[in-house]
Order: sequence, then C-alpha cells, then structure tokens
Amino acid sequence: MPNPNLTFLFTLQILHPRPDAARQTGCIRPAKNQRNTMKKTIVSLGIAAFIMACGGSSESASTTSGSSANAQAVAAADKPDGEKIYKQYCVTCHGLYGDMGASGAFNLQESKLKLEERVAVITNGRNAMTAFEALLDADEIKAVAKYTMKLKP
Ligand code: HEC
Repeated sequence: MPNPNLTFLFTLQILHPRPDAARQTGCIRPAKNQRNTMKKTIVSLGIAAFIMACGGSSESASTTSGSSANAQAVAAADKPDGEKIYKQYCVTCHGLYGDMGASGAFNLQESKLKLEERVAVITNGRNAMTAFEALLDADEIKAVAKYTMKLKP
C-alpha cells in the first residue's frame, strides 16, 4: 500500500518538475503545443494516483486487527495464496523447493503425508517444527498444505 503522503509529494513533483532536473537528465523539451496535452495527461495521472492512495489507506484501516502487515495482506485476498504463505513462513527451514532441511526439517518433496496430516503438522507443529496455529488461519494452513503437495524435484 503506497504511503498517501509520499504519493502526494510525488504527484506534486510530477506536476512541478524542476526545469534544471529535466535538463540534467538530457530530457528534450517538447514543442509548446505538445507540452499542453502532456500537462493535461500528467494532471489527470496525478489525480488518479491521489485517489488510489486514498482508497488504499481506508482499506488498511478496516483490516488493522491482523497480527502482522503480511497476514493482513493475505487475509485481504479472497483466497489465501499457498505459495505466497509458503515463501513467507516455510522457506527458512524447508527451502524454496521443500528440500533444504534446515533445523532437521523434513524433505517436503518426499513427504508421504496426506493433506489432512500436513494440515495437522502445520497447525500444531511437531518436534522442531513450530506450530502455525497462531500465525495462520485454517484456510491459510490448508492453502499452504496444498502447496507443499505440489513441491516436486
Ligand atoms: C523452524 C523450522 C521450520 C519451519 C519454519 C517450518 N517447518 Fe515444517 N518441519 C520442520 C521440521 C524440523 C520438521 C520435521 C518434524 C519432526 O521431526 O517430526 C517439519 C515437518 C513438516 C511437515 C511434515 C513432513 C512429513 O513428511 O512428515 C510438513 C508438511 C511441514 N513441515 C510443512 C511446513 C510448512 C507448510 C511450513 C510453513 C507454514 C513449515 N513446515 C515451516 C521445520 C520447520
């Protein structure tokens, strides 16, 4: 989510570029009649960016109850993205392809566990693997468990 204040400053910057900055970047100034249409385009782009920034901030206000910014992003999506969750929470031990084995993590490419059994391990943890019950909701755990079934050499 873009910081609305930053977006606004950025918009101002677009609307009022420093002429010497344009010269430094080797930007060739367009002909006068072209400049007018360009200015209009830039103004409407700026307004669009500002509206988008406002929309973004009200959206985040409605989801501030999550435990982390990332969990919020996942919760905001209609369907949890198993791959995204995996990359965020699981790669530290299992690696991107499931076979890294850090801290004695099992090779997920070779796991024979069924979906429900994986869900149970992820939810409650097992030996050195931490429980994800407090970090992920049931739908997210199911999505990431499904994703681990797809990890193949
Ligand atoms: C702190 C390191 C660590 C993290 C983070 C971690 N795991 Fe594990 N995982 C392990 C270890 C260690 C085992 C083996 C547990 C045992 O010895 O019983 C394991 C086992 C598993 C198993 C069981 C495999 C089998 O065949 O028995 C699954 C499924 C699994 N992890 C999925 C995940 C998923 C999905 C995530 C992310 C949400 C995750 N793990 C995050 C360390 C981790």
